[in-house]
Formats: sequence, C-alpha cells, structure tokens
Amino acid sequence: MIIPIEYENDKIIILDQTKIPNDEIYIEIETVPLLRDAIKFLKIRGAPLIGIAAAYGTRLSSVLNLDKESEIYRANLLKDIDLLKSSRPTAVNLFNILDKAKKIVEIYDDKYKIHEQLVKLSIEIHENDRAMCENIADYGLELIKENAKIMTHCNTGALATGGIGTALGIIYRAFWEGKNPEIFVGETRPLLQGARLTAFELNREGIPVNVLPDNARAYIMENRDIDIVITGADRIAMNGDTANKIGTYDIAINAAHFDIPFYIAAPSSSFDRNASDMNDIPIELRSAMELYGIGYEGLKDTGVKFINPAFDVTPNQLITGIITEKGIIKPPYEKNIPDFI
Ligand code: MRU
Repeated sequence: MIIPIEYENDKIIILDQTKIPNDEIYIEIETVPLLRDAIKFLKIRGAPLIGIAAAYGTRLSSVLNLDKESEIYRANLLKDIDLLKSSRPTAVNLFNILDKAKKIVEIYDDKYKIHEQLVKLSIEIHENDRAMCENIADYGLELIKENAKIMTHCNTGALATGGIGTALGIIYRAFWEGKNPEIFVGETRPLLQGARLTAFELNREGIPVNVLPDNARAYIMENRDIDIVITGADRIAMNGDTANKIGTYDIAINAAHFDIPFYIAAPSSSFDRNASDMNDIPIELRSAMELYGIGYEGLKDTGVKFINPAFDVTPNQLITGIITEKGIIKPPYEKNIPDFI
C-alpha cells in the first residue's frame, strides 16, 4: 500500500499528490509554513491525512522551537497551530487534532513535557487512523455483494488516510475477500482526484476501475446497474449532514432517483460535535484558476466570473447510512450519532 506521509529525522516526508499519476515524488518538509502550503495546494490532501499531517506539523514546530525560552517556545507553537488551521477550512479532522495539540500546550508547564506529549499525539493519530480504516472496512464489507458495481467519488484511499482508506478501504477489502467489485469514479473536476488518484490506487492493486466525466453519473447509474455508492466525508454534522468533495450532493440526488443505497464512510475524527447541521459547516472556495484547465487547450482569463466550491453538503435525508470504525450508523442520525461516536 502506498504511504503518503512519514515523519523521519525531524522532517515530514510527503508524497506530492499533485504529480500523481505521472510522477511519484516524495518531498521533505522542514518548516511549518511549508507544510501549511503543501496542505493548501493539495500536495497532501484528504480529510484524515490532513489531520495526520497537522499532528506531525505540531511535532515539527516543537522540535524547531525546543531550544527557545519556555514562553517563546509556547507562543511559537500556538502561532504554528493557528497557521496550520488557516490551511483549509472544511475538513474538521484538522481542527479536531490541532485543538488536541493546543490543549497540550496549554495544560503542561514544562516544554519538554509538551514536546513528549506532541510526539505521542502524532504517533497515536497516525496509528489510530490506520486502525480506524481497517475497522471501517470490516463493517463496510457486509454491504458489498458479489460482483458489486460500486460508485465512489474523489479519493478516499491510502492517499487520503493513514491506512487503506475509508470508502476505498471497503473496496480494497471487498476485492481481497474475492467479491470481485467493479468501481466507477467521476474525474472529480477541477483537480481530478478521481481520475488521477483513485484510478492510480485501484489500478495499482489490480482492481477494475472506470473513470467517467462527472456529468455522466446519472447515465452510468442507469446503464451500468450501479449497486451502491460509497463516498468519504470531510465533516459530518450531528444531524448527519455531510460535507464531502463537490459533486457528492449531486451523486446522492441521482442515487435517490435510481433507488441506489448511498453510504458515507468516515472515521469518528470526521464528526464535528460543534456543528448541529449543514449551516455550521464552512465550505472552501478555491481559485478560479483551477477551472481554466479545461478541454484541449485550457482557457485564458477573460475576466468572466468562475465559482469554484471545493465541497458541498449532502443533507442527511439522502444518506442511507454512515459507516464508521465503530459500526454503521443509520437514521435518524440526530438520535444515533452521539451514542455511537
Ligand atoms: O480536496 P480534497 O482532495 O482534500 O478532498 C478530499 C475529499 O473530499 C475526500 O472525499 C474526503 O476528504 C474523504 S478522505 C477519506
């Protein structure tokens, strides 16, 4: 399985996901501002992986400041935590993990103790995510029938997590268990996480995968007998409303039309206890430049307004179930989520 992040010799080593599938280039990150940019420009991406990167970022910050006087050490760490928080707004894993790091900085007096705790946190976050992916796959497997045709979106695999992935983790497990799944993924415009990353991962493992234009999904659902849709999540509100890569909402509407079960697969770190519904979820708007690379030649900037939301929120009514590492949550989510997570 491809490893998208490692912490070695006080450097964060990441696979540059903007280069896949053409090149597999690992880059060494030695400062927190460089990590923040790597997250912002999607060299490293996917909600759980962004959280893991942030945990390593606080550890790196601690290493870089450990020789400073205690108050400066603490102030610089808090500044770096805020800097990392400014990288991307929607995936809540980032904030959940950075808030844990912040608490450590605030609770302990001794900087060496803080350092020890941040090292421990980063290792735990990475290992827990690996284990959560396995457990999600355990629960998700029961939903997959023999020869299932599965539609997914964006990239939720080893390139998005610390393990085998969430939605893709279930697909890997189904394949390894001999269920012979066939996968359908939209390109995921504008940055093509489906066409570049999901296709790359699944193809490497020998799992049959079809890439389609995002706007072909209703056609494919109707003509290729899709059995189930499973996507990931960047933030889940406590009523089950789920933010995920732009286009997820459209897929859920199409799935409802064709009566295809629509599942979200996500670890508990993707739930936001402070968000009661979709109105509490911030949606990242990205640069229009990302939309210019269209068709054969691309477009030039003619001053026309482009809108480029990176995520949308699927209302809980369209979600058949949420597959977590602790089991599958069924509606009504408002009642069932707090007991489960
Ligand atoms: O913009 P990205 O590539 O970070 O978006 C990623 C997604 O939307 C994934 O579906 C989501 O983070 C779940 S990852 C297991």
